[in-house]
Amino acid sequence: MEKKFIPKLGAEVAAIGLGTWGIGGGFWTPDHSRDEEWVDALRYGLQLGLTLVDTAEMYGGGHAEELVGMAVKGFNRDEVFIVSKVWQTHAARDEVVKAAEASVRRLGTYIDLYLIHWPPEGVELCETMRGLEEAVKRGYARFIGVSNFGLQLVEEARSCLSQVDVAAIENKFSLLDRRDEGSVIPYAEREGMLYLAYTPLEKGQLAREQFLASVGAKYGKTAAQVALNWLLRFKPVVPIPKASNRRHVEENAGAAGWRLSEEDWRLISEKFRKVLA
Ligand SMILES: NC(=O)c1ccc[n+]([C@@H]2O[C@H](COP(=O)([O-])OP(=O)(O)OC[C@H]3O[C@@H](n4cnc5c(N)ncnc54)[C@H](OP(=O)(O)O)[C@@H]3O)[C@@H](O)[C@H]2O)c1
Repeated sequence: MEKKFIPKLGAEVAAIGLGTWGIGGGFWTPDHSRDEEWVDALRYGLQLGLTLVDTAEMYGGGHAEELVGMAVKGFNRDEVFIVSKVWQTHAARDEVVKAAEASVRRLGTYIDLYLIHWPPEGVELCETMRGLEEAVKRGYARFIGVSNFGLQLVEEARSCLSQVDVAAIENKFSLLDRRDEGSVIPYAEREGMLYLAYTPLEKGQLAREQFLASVGAKYGKTAAQVALNWLLRFKPVVPIPKASNRRHVEENAGAAGWRLSEEDWRLISEKFRKVLA
């Protein structure tokens, strides 16, 4: 699997990760009905080298984290990179630390990257950031970051920290949602941060896109693979598509390890810019 070196992590991570929203349930609601299938899909992804796994305490009310914990067992822990997130209603300093401890318990292992899921409401951002910092101090997490943050908020979050820095930003980014293309992404690159692109397939919509399928045919690739590959050209970007079956996992893994030609990349870029306009 292709990897990307992220200066702030001082290490490489898989160029494509595994999302887990919907795996193990929905919004604070666990679902155990497909556990075997979900764990199998995650394990298969890990085997194929999709070793960055994105989860959150909110997903399935913690059940997604339990399934990630099951899936990573048997893999070399150093080769897996687990991202989890604290929900914004747990944004007070002590709540963040408590949430991190609970996530670690459910995962059965430490968190590599711990994020505040959305900007906190009713709590000073600095208080939340100090909670994340404390989670690192206590060994629950190795790195911290923010999710759903614009540039100004990222800078504000960084200004709160004294011992660790924001190592990653996780925002929505896809061919159909280019808000961060000229702002947060170049910033992440300049600062050596990881940028996790969520909903990179627009919930599967881009996998059914005819234009992408026609460009992909030249490379023996599918529309989904082209949509993900387009994102890989941005240096700090690691897309985290969610797939709950082996077929989708394998297809997404095939989005890395090759590149669209400069000409095709630009053609796709312009075509979708027009869709947006
Ligand atoms: N930080 C945040 O606030 C935030 C918000 C949203 C998402 N996320 C993270 O980002 C991850 C990805 O985003 P997402 O789940 O919203 O959307 P997504 O990855 O764009 O799309 C997931 C959907 O696409 C389908 N799919 C996956 N691979 C496919 C393929 N090769 N061909 C056709 N369909 C395919 C999946 O189907 P199957 O399940 O049937 O395989 C699923 O229905 C989430 O799981 C979560 O970890 C974070």
